[in-house]
Amino acid sequence: MPHKLPILIDTDPGVDDALAILMAHRHADVVGLGIAAGNVGLAHTTANALKLVETIGATTPVFAGCAQPLVAPPPESAAFVHGRDGFGDTGYLPGARRADGEPAALAILRLAREHAGKLVIVALAPLTNLALALRLDPDLPSRVARLVVMGGAVTGRGNTSVAAEFNIGFDPEAASIVFAAWPQIELVDWELTTRHGIGFDTIARWCAADDPRARLFDAISRKTRAWSQARGRRQLMLADPLAMAVALQPELVTRTQELHVDIALHGAARGATLVDWENRSGRAPNTRIVVDVDQAGFEALAASAFGTE
Ligand code: BDR
Ligand code: CA
Repeated sequence: MPHKLPILIDTDPGVDDALAILMAHRHADVVGLGIAAGNVGLAHTTANALKLVETIGATTPVFAGCAQPLVAPPPESAAFVHGRDGFGDTGYLPGARRADGEPAALAILRLAREHAGKLVIVALAPLTNLALALRLDPDLPSRVARLVVMGGAVTGRGNTSVAAEFNIGFDPEAASIVFAAWPQIELVDWELTTRHGIGFDTIARWCAADDPRARLFDAISRKTRAWSQARGRRQLMLADPLAMAVALQPELVTRTQELHVDIALHGAARGATLVDWENRSGRAPNTRIVVDVDQAGFEALAASAFGTE
């Protein structure tokens, strides 16, 4: 049997993070979950990850990370989308396991050494833990096979401010460190996400599966689905599952562009991804921007997270 892809997920669950984590457990060897603050505070994101791992019936280690951004005070959370606990305020019974004692940044460095040359890091949260790991060991990228980041809004159509996407806007200094140091990031941005939403009827079909993972996702995603529909959206935006699909099945990507990306740190554009579309800076590309994805393939991969294939 071919070896499964070793994947380390840095995440802030989060409803869409939850589906991405389910997908990864179905198709890859998930070597750890690094937990960041973001959608909601670290205590909730860590508890949510532990609950999810328990529901899957897995033993994936969960490493709590930074409770706040590297430099600035935490901006507004995304509780209005994901619920105050990040999991739709269902009042679920907490998982029995606890987080591992190792901080996420150190776990990233250790796992990158243990799986040197093979590890795929999928960053679905503010980049705080990864930036800290990079500051501790600038050689980290040389040991990592791929870094897939869900973040940014490549033409400036933000979802948390006019120009910034949530993950980058939550901790712009961390994102700046990662984009400055990493030679090639595979970027799944918010604007791609909006072109690849998934219909509410499809989601309802997944949620109806007779499977504990489907039941959990059904419960925790209700508030988010209602919030999205109340805003007039016809589809659910599943940013993190889209990034996970790109990580798990790169052949789903039908178009990319390699460009240099920087992070704005000041003023109204703070947290924006500054894409050098015309190579005015003359700098070498550091990012492969995913421009298009096979929608049917993405939906099939997401559905398989619930055991329906
Ligand atoms: C990103 O922000 C979070 O709210 C989601 O979990 C996703 O990672 C989308 O902008
Ligand atoms: Ca997330």
